[in-house]
Amino acid sequence: MQVVETSADLRVLLREWREDGDDIAVVPTMGNLHAGHVSLVELARQLADRVVVTLFVNPTQFSPDEDFAEYPRTRDRDSMRLKKIGADLLFVPDVETMYPFGIDNATTVSVPGLTAELCGASRPGHFDGVTSVVARLFALVQADIAVFGQKDYQQQLVIRRMVADLNLPIRIVTAPTVREEDGLAMSSRNAYLTDEERAIAPLLFSTLNDVEAGLRLGKRDYAALEELAGSALAAAGFDPEYVAIRRAADLGRPQGDSKELVVLAAARLGQARLIDNVEIML
Ligand code: PAJ
Repeated sequence: MQVVETSADLRVLLREWREDGDDIAVVPTMGNLHAGHVSLVELARQLADRVVVTLFVNPTQFSPDEDFAEYPRTRDRDSMRLKKIGADLLFVPDVETMYPFGIDNATTVSVPGLTAELCGASRPGHFDGVTSVVARLFALVQADIAVFGQKDYQQQLVIRRMVADLNLPIRIVTAPTVREEDGLAMSSRNAYLTDEERAIAPLLFSTLNDVEAGLRLGKRDYAALEELAGSALAAAGFDPEYVAIRRAADLGRPQGDSKELVVLAAARLGQARLIDNVEIML
């Protein structure tokens, strides 16, 4: 596996692969890789001849009160792990490579509507940071396919919308959420949990499963189901941000006869902000 830091070095390798007729998949990450990221890389390997993983802790998607400075940076370990699972290239740009005119002068990409609610409401500017950096990564890597995780459900929808709206020549694939044995969705931010909080954390997923069970039993009072789930999380020690039952396709509010749903939740637990979701086809 090659490790490349500059766009010039990246271009050289990409040109060689293109000349060989290889197609390319990209897996954007902020590093501190866990089994969730690994699953994306493994899926990417099945879908394309060459796999590029990007590692960039993107400052523009963190607001000033968030954990940009503390975000775990484990480049050497990440690099070893990626080599073992057969990634072809790890691209580790610095801020100057990603934002050559400086962050304050950077061109931005913004997807309105879809980003207004849920995580977008509690993290203003976050999704603009994500779409802007992902658009840059797509332009740099020029991959045929990009793989994202369902764990960040709203994120993958926002990226799909950006790609569709700008006609970007890339196919977005969403990979299932990888979980710990007790159901907790894997996340770099789980490291912020104390032992006591870690024991409570799987309740986020089980609460979503309870909402799913209610829907499968025919309950359609969405507000009541959301409220009940929020109270259960609060009683367990979470500080819930939202529990929301939405249409899977566009996060719109479902009608009673909507069949393809997603239940999403975000909640703080100690220092960690945890998110999770379950998709439900009724
Ligand atoms: P990061 O949090 O590092 O996640 C990188 C990718 O891994 C995302 O597509 C995310 O959805 C996926 N992922 C994380 N945890 C997962 C899990 N438990 N199971 C499956 N996939 C999982 O998301 C970002 O970085 C950034 O916003 C990024 C897209 C790289 C832009 O900066």
